[in-house]
Amino acid sequence: MADNEASQPNLWSSRLMFILAAAGSAVGLGNIWKFPYIAGENGGGAFVVVYLLCIAAIGVPIMAAEVLLGRAGRQSPINTLRALVRRSGASKGWTLIGWMGVLGGFLILSFYAVIAGWALHYIFQAGSGTFTGASSAEVSGVFDDFLASPWTMLFWHTVFMAGTVAIVARGVNRGLEFAIRWFMPVLFVLILLLVGYAMVVGDFAAGFGFLFGFDFGALTVAGVQEAMGHAFFTLSVGMGAIMAYGAYVPGNVSIPGTVLTIASVDTVVALAAGLAIFPIVFANPDLEAGAGPGLLFVTLPIAFGNLPLGAFIGTLFFILISFAAITSAISIIEPALAWTVEQFRITRARVAIALGGICWFLGIGSVLSFNVWSNVHIVGERTFFDFVDYVTQVWMLPIGGFLIVLFAAWVLPKEIVTEQLGFSSGFKWKLWLVLGRVVAPIGVLLVFVYTTFLA
Ligand code: TRP
Repeated sequence: MADNEASQPNLWSSRLMFILAAAGSAVGLGNIWKFPYIAGENGGGAFVVVYLLCIAAIGVPIMAAEVLLGRAGRQSPINTLRALVRRSGASKGWTLIGWMGVLGGFLILSFYAVIAGWALHYIFQAGSGTFTGASSAEVSGVFDDFLASPWTMLFWHTVFMAGTVAIVARGVNRGLEFAIRWFMPVLFVLILLLVGYAMVVGDFAAGFGFLFGFDFGALTVAGVQEAMGHAFFTLSVGMGAIMAYGAYVPGNVSIPGTVLTIASVDTVVALAAGLAIFPIVFANPDLEAGAGPGLLFVTLPIAFGNLPLGAFIGTLFFILISFAAITSAISIIEPALAWTVEQFRITRARVAIALGGICWFLGIGSVLSFNVWSNVHIVGERTFFDFVDYVTQVWMLPIGGFLIVLFAAWVLPKEIVTEQLGFSSGFKWKLWLVLGRVVAPIGVLLVFVYTTFLA
């Protein structure tokens, strides 16, 4: 099995399957856990506007670039870039994008698995009725106790990494396609249910106003930087994950339409998560929007604790979040995995265990950041967890995405691009040139240079 996979990669069985897999990659902790908490820390509205602009003007063109490069090369990102560099007669330096993506993947997965472990732990907390009838102060207490227990957190981090390894070891197609097809819609319905709950019980007007009111006074330079970084993170672009998935896209699938669908699904899930969480925040004096990484793990349990069938729905919800996390995690590791399999002809299973082990080890730093090492700071006030999050989201993904779109729109010969996009003139072609050559790269550059060096 492994040998065939190395020489002829599997294809997604249909356009829908690719959409589900890429949406499975995009929709994850970024939408449900991270977006609400960073929107909360950055004062809501104006942050959301910048985030949406970055998705539309920067994220979507870069995602299209990743898919087209992946499908044109049909190998792991590193080898795809190597092959396309050869075909375009470009500098070998471009393959660095692939290497940076592999490194970024290890770093991102290391902390991603730790937070996904929180969700796993909360499946059992919700299931055992811990939150039933609990006050908001009690719910916060449960979370604080959990953060203070490195061994418990390490245990769930380990479980999540083991699950990820078990899935990727089998190859991306089998099992996963089935699961994504069923779990993603259920997750979506449950979020809508929670939005409904928040409408009835929470302070919906305040939550809505917070997310969609445009208070530009609340926006800081760091907020703009985070909004752009998060746009990359939530769409899974900038490190080759979507490029790796693009390599498995059947030839007849239209890239622009597909990419738009994926980005829309991702955005709707994030906004819905915000609409489920903030009304609860504003209805509880013990809670605050800027609570940080714990926001989801405190607000939702409060809602579940008071909801009829709350223990059941809460359990289901954390199961689904864990699932959304695992369908993302497998894409984070895919570039490194696919490359190692191609290069050394080792079985996927062995490679998965080895690479998973590296991520697991790095993740220990994030586990300790919330307790034993909470006072160990790297670059400013950042814990190890904050630092890894910051370096990947603010530096690596934007730089990677910038180079990816430059390569696809400026360097790659027109025949290759045309063959992938399916048009070579007219409005769509011009739109691609404007977005890919100008808007996306200049957008990244402006935000990056301004927020990093000039502000
Ligand atoms: N997009 C996922 C989320 O929002 C996380 C993710 C998956 C990711 N693949 C990625 C982030 C590649 C950066 C790069 O949870």
